[in-house]
Amino acid sequence: MSDLLWQKKGVEIDPRIMRFLAGSDVVLDRELFLHDIVASRAHVEGLARIGLVSDAESANLSRELDALAADFKSGAFVLDERFEDGHSAIEARLTERLGDAGRKVHTGRSRNDQVLVASRLWLKAQLEALIDACRASARVCLDRAHADALPMPGYTHLQRAVVSSTAMWFAGFAESFIDDTRRAQDTLALIDANPLGTAAGYGVNLPLDRDYTTQRLGFARLQISPIYAQLSRGKFELAALEALAGAVLDLRRLAWDLSLFTTAEYGFVSLPAAYTTGSSIMPNKRNPDVVELMRASYAAVAAARCEVEQLLSLPSGYQRDLQFSKGSIVHGFGIGLSALELLPGLLASLKWNADAMRGAIESSMYATDVAIEQAAAGVPFRDAYRAAAETAADAGQGRTPEASLAARVSPGGAADLRLAELEARWTGLNKAALGRDA
Ligand code: ARG
Repeated sequence: MSDLLWQKKGVEIDPRIMRFLAGSDVVLDRELFLHDIVASRAHVEGLARIGLVSDAESANLSRELDALAADFKSGAFVLDERFEDGHSAIEARLTERLGDAGRKVHTGRSRNDQVLVASRLWLKAQLEALIDACRASARVCLDRAHADALPMPGYTHLQRAVVSSTAMWFAGFAESFIDDTRRAQDTLALIDANPLGTAAGYGVNLPLDRDYTTQRLGFARLQISPIYAQLSRGKFELAALEALAGAVLDLRRLAWDLSLFTTAEYGFVSLPAAYTTGSSIMPNKRNPDVVELMRASYAAVAAARCEVEQLLSLPSGYQRDLQFSKGSIVHGFGIGLSALELLPGLLASLKWNADAMRGAIESSMYATDVAIEQAAAGVPFRDAYRAAAETAADAGQGRTPEASLAARVSPGGAADLRLAELEARWTGLNKAALGRDA
């Protein structure tokens, strides 16, 4: 390890204690490193604006920060155990290249606000990816809700219940993913605040140009209170994981449907070959492993969320406990997003087996239609229900799935899916996204 930023003369560092303090932190900092560099540039420019580094020093520091980013991307610079963390690595490199100018870079900041700003920028990028994945999934669901109106059984308790349709199934998940997108957008708006310039959590005796770094880093607002900046570490991570969890929970239920629907027993859906795998021993098998891992992804997201929540039993002010939240968000978003990002392609290439679905619609599944028709004609519903129960097995006589669906006029039902309304909501998501990018 290179010299520690905070090392005191004559104090021996026990390597086992050092390993415990650092853990996998430096490896996790690889995720944050480019954001840390961008934030360091903004910090240096801010220092120049209040005369704490000269314009020439600022230009040199910016150039070296860009070079470090390029070397990191190309692999010429590796962030490893030589450094305590990514923050130390940046300062070490600037000092090695520029001497005094490098030693000035930490003026007015602490690793406490440095890690906050880097992880905040990282979280914003993850939420943007979450928004894109949810919006793309909603798009495919909407397209397929317009295009496929095949009858299929609707289940409750996994028992055949009433006639449903592929359009209803897709419209349901479309609306879900639209709401997931909105929630991710709201969460992005919540966390879109600049903590840089709050230093260790109590401000500094310098007129830092925090409004400049806010605008330079593309934050929507300043996070004003240094104490709140520290309180928001973990809190914002948790909010982001909750937004992710909402979407991955929908994905889990969708994946559950698909893993049932692709069994021989249902036979409703076939998955494209690219989304299935073979067995190492059973030559006959094609397995829906991708769908199963999509379903399992929720476990990683839920664990990450739980871990951050557990870490947050803390007093105010910076506490080293919060370092562990980096592992949670990297793991949770890594698995959750990669699952969600595969979903639009999978949904677009699902093939329904119309005959199998029609074959699974049995006569008794019209009994609810029968009872409600009677009720509409004036029979008290409970009486109509009892009469329909007696003859449930024959309820389908003279009826077709298409006619049942055509009569499902309650708003949102198969005859009134309100796809135009869902389209308008989806377009509204895009408008919010354009505002974000502008
Ligand atoms: N690795 C640390 C973290 O993630 C960086 C901040 C260290 N600050 C400190 N006061 N020790 O929290």
